[in-house]
Amino acid sequence: MSSMAFSVGAPPTTRTDSDEYAYDIPNRSIRKPPIAEMKVLGGMTVTGNFNDVHRPVLLREVVDLLGSEDRFISGGLIVDGTLGAAGHASACLEAFDRAELFGIDQDPEILEIAREKLRPFGERARVTHGRISELSSLLQTAELGQPTGMLFDLGVSSLQLDQPERGFSFAADGPLDMRMDPTRERTAADIINNWDEADLADLFYYEGDESRSRSIARAIVQSRRRAPFLRTSALAELIAGEMGGGKGGKIHPATRCFQALRRAVNEEGEELLSGLDVAEEWLANEGVLVVISFHSGEDRAVKHFFAEGARRGRWRVLTKKPLAADRQESRTNRRARSARVRAAVRVRAAEASAPRGEGAS
Ligand SMILES: C[S@@+](CC[C@H](N)C(=O)[O-])C[C@H]1O[C@@H](n2cnc3c(N)ncnc32)[C@H](O)[C@@H]1O
Repeated sequence: MSSMAFSVGAPPTTRTDSDEYAYDIPNRSIRKPPIAEMKVLGGMTVTGNFNDVHRPVLLREVVDLLGSEDRFISGGLIVDGTLGAAGHASACLEAFDRAELFGIDQDPEILEIAREKLRPFGERARVTHGRISELSSLLQTAELGQPTGMLFDLGVSSLQLDQPERGFSFAADGPLDMRMDPTRERTAADIINNWDEADLADLFYYEGDESRSRSIARAIVQSRRRAPFLRTSALAELIAGEMGGGKGGKIHPATRCFQALRRAVNEEGEELLSGLDVAEEWLANEGVLVVISFHSGEDRAVKHFFAEGARRGRWRVLTKKPLAADRQESRTNRRARSARVRAAVRVRAAEASAPRGEGAS
């Protein structure tokens, strides 16, 4: 593969951040596998074909961006900071047959699925539990050297949304939890039952783009005086009531608040920022970082990071505008509609030749 320019597919359909929750709708049209195909891994029931349960978005684009400029022709290390069911990771190991992979995920149940999927690649794939914010120390411990490629496919996996007992879903009742990493202490219930009204309103407004944030926060605070919120259905019903039932809307009325709440529980904004720093610190010269985001705030953060990095001579941006799913992918995987991919190459040459103190970290 030679050096290539990446074009922007015309945004296929109207995009909203809430398309990330497209799976979380009752009577969804996603094919459910026959029971015989299913098996239990890490406490989750999944099909023999893992891509049926979580379809990796913009797969070809991600592989092309990572492999641009023949980066993995004679080896190299890919770090996947959001391994999930290893859809992108396994496609990369297939495409770059000399590359190795170090993958992490904060969800131990999903990690078991990834382990199973990556088994055929033997020692080329190493997998461990951890958060993006711990990646620097995990890389240090693993002693694998500098990565040539890094991938962050942010947000929630459909495997998580599909397990009501994990508490991500407004469509199916479960405990109000939403922790991707069960070793975290704070659950969604802790936030809903303890945060001030103003803080809840800000969360729904700034992280969820919810225009009714103030009245929803007020209703939550009034209701929790009578009894704390413990179940997703209780919260979803209260929000729906506050929004007049949401009749005729394209999305469930609780979608935006649930997304905002999940982002707070898992500190997703902070995790992204530390991931960008880890990439700048660890990527080899000419190594590439690819980020898939599902939230306009996240996409903006990546855009600004790359622009500022390019201004300082540390990054060369590959995607002037973010790549989006084409019509075909958007039709068959609604979650892909809100996905945006940006990529940039780490440039260290200037740092190496700069006089001491200039351009150094
Ligand atoms: C969208 S899925 C990734 C799907 C994956 N690319 C695939 O092809 O199967 C996001 C995954 O990242 C994990 N995740 C999200 N934030 C994380 C973080 N800060 N650190 C580690 N894992 C994270 C989630 O648990 C989830 O499994």
